[in-house]
Amino acid sequence: MSVAVPFPTTQPPGYEWFDDEPEFSAADHLALEAPAEIIMLADLGYDADEIATKATPVAASTPFRVLSDEGAAIMRATADRLRTFRKPAGDRIENMVRGGCYRSRWLRDLCTSTELAGHLSAIYGIEVAPHPMALHLGHLNFAPSTIEVGIDKWHHDTLPLDFVLTVTDPAEVAGGRFEYFVGTRHEAAALAAEGKTPPAERTVAPDFPGAGWAIALHGDMVVHRAGPLDELCERISMVNGYVALDTLTDEQSRSVDLMAIDDHQVLFSEWAKMAAWRTTGRLSHLVETMGFEDRDTVIAELEFALEDAQRALDEMRAGKDTIDHYGG
Ligand SMILES: [Fe+2]
Repeated sequence: MSVAVPFPTTQPPGYEWFDDEPEFSAADHLALEAPAEIIMLADLGYDADEIATKATPVAASTPFRVLSDEGAAIMRATADRLRTFRKPAGDRIENMVRGGCYRSRWLRDLCTSTELAGHLSAIYGIEVAPHPMALHLGHLNFAPSTIEVGIDKWHHDTLPLDFVLTVTDPAEVAGGRFEYFVGTRHEAAALAAEGKTPPAERTVAPDFPGAGWAIALHGDMVVHRAGPLDELCERISMVNGYVALDTLTDEQSRSVDLMAIDDHQVLFSEWAKMAAWRTTGRLSHLVETMGFEDRDTVIAELEFALEDAQRALDEMRAGKDTIDHYGG
């Protein structure tokens, strides 16, 4: 497997490694199984032209096992340790932890595991790598302090691809189901404009058989949420991000939304590296493939190659202090 951007060899200021952690072992801690079914973007109503520009035509999978019993127990203990660093993500999530892979070597090694990325590549049908921005690795959502609102409101993700893993056993959680909308982002936006959220008859809440199970998600394209709890209890999920190694597809990120939630000392450097990796890929493609073209074609191809770096610069300068969602 290739790596998009290597995990940083130094930690950001203020982050320290946990001591006395078990060492991650793919052989002992993973128990990878293939999902029974794959749901395609076309099944959600996306048209072929839109699908063609995206990382993969896959929308989601049914739940599949990721962690062994031993791995699930370490994941839970790691999440419990990271809980102390929880904070809100705007008005979308009340309790979440990002940057945990700069504190837990076990979580870092799970989230950057080549075995796991290879498994996800097979599910998505394309070559993927762990997300270049470490903030998108090992994201944790914890239960809110009230049952009145969703744990994470209806949204599409700020990154292209991810899996959502049960850290707590869903059988021990009252409510808090993960749900996705059998529809497009465009439909969700139209509903939100009328003050509505996806109707129950058009949502799917997959059954996760235990802790350590996940569904793969085309997070940028599938509108989803973690629904409200029926009663207050702990409910933890972990989201790990991936990107397509093919840099010619759309970037499919909303990094500008992260300005409202992430540590700026970490965010901007990670963001710049992602943009630089994408732009390097596109520039190399241009060098390798460009023939003798007319001026307008050359300008268009060079602009396409520089698109991600330019967008990153524009968005970093403009700034944003909210994170988008569709309510609920
Ligand atoms: Fe999400």
